Amino acid sequence: MRIIHTVRELRAALDASTHCAFVPTMGNLHEGHIALVRLAADIGGPVVASIFVNPLQFGLGEDFERYPRTLAADADKLAAAKCDILFAPDVDEMYPEPQTFQVVPPLADELCGAFRPGHFAGVCTVVLKLFEMVRPRYAVFGKKDYQQLFLLKAMARQFNLPIEIIAGETIRADDGLALSSRNGYLTAEERTEAPRLNRQLRRIHDALASGNRQYGNLERAASDQLAAAGWKVDYISIRSRTTLLAPRDDEDDLVILGAAWLNKTRLIDNLEFS
Ligand code: PAF
Repeated sequence: MRIIHTVRELRAALDASTHCAFVPTMGNLHEGHIALVRLAADIGGPVVASIFVNPLQFGLGEDFERYPRTLAADADKLAAAKCDILFAPDVDEMYPEPQTFQVVPPLADELCGAFRPGHFAGVCTVVLKLFEMVRPRYAVFGKKDYQQLFLLKAMARQFNLPIEIIAGETIRADDGLALSSRNGYLTAEERTEAPRLNRQLRRIHDALASGNRQYGNLERAASDQLAAAGWKVDYISIRSRTTLLAPRDDEDDLVILGAAWLNKTRLIDNLEFS
């Protein structure tokens, strides 16, 4: 596997005619990321992964500074997963000018966007730049960041990008906790508590499966249970999978999304329902 730090080197390494599959990441890789790399490798062409902790998608007071940077260990994992090129630019390479164009997506103020102003503009901007640098035929993103995946699919569609977005399933620990780099912030006690978020989403899922369509009540009950266990809930929300907006009562394709703080760590999760 080649490790490349500049766009110039990257462009030289990637033959214009090859159709690569691309896995953008912020590093600190876990099994969830590696599953995305394997999905990319299954396509059959060259696989490119990127590692870039994108300052544009972190708000003031968020964890940009303490976000784990583990490039050497990440490179070993990527090489073992048959990644061909690791692109790891620094901030000056990604944002060489002080003023940066930004892509502001729709729904940027919904769900996580309501609690992380500017976050999705930062995500869409960096991904659009990475797409232009790597020029992949496929790009793989995890369903764990459901709103991100939804917006990136919309971005590819609306900007007519010649890229197929592939969704990877969320990888979970045995107790249901979705794998995330931020799980590393949890103390042992918090780690035991953390699967409660997923359990609450499952409860909603089971209620929907039994025909309950009282979305507001289901959301409130889950939030209350988390709050009673000491969590600070940003949102628990049942949405349409087609629009990511509030669903109609008779809508069949739903997604239950949640974000909540366990002390200093913000966890997100979601479950699809159809
Ligand atoms: O999901 C992530 O790790 C990031 O948001 C992404 C897509 C790599 C953009 O920085």
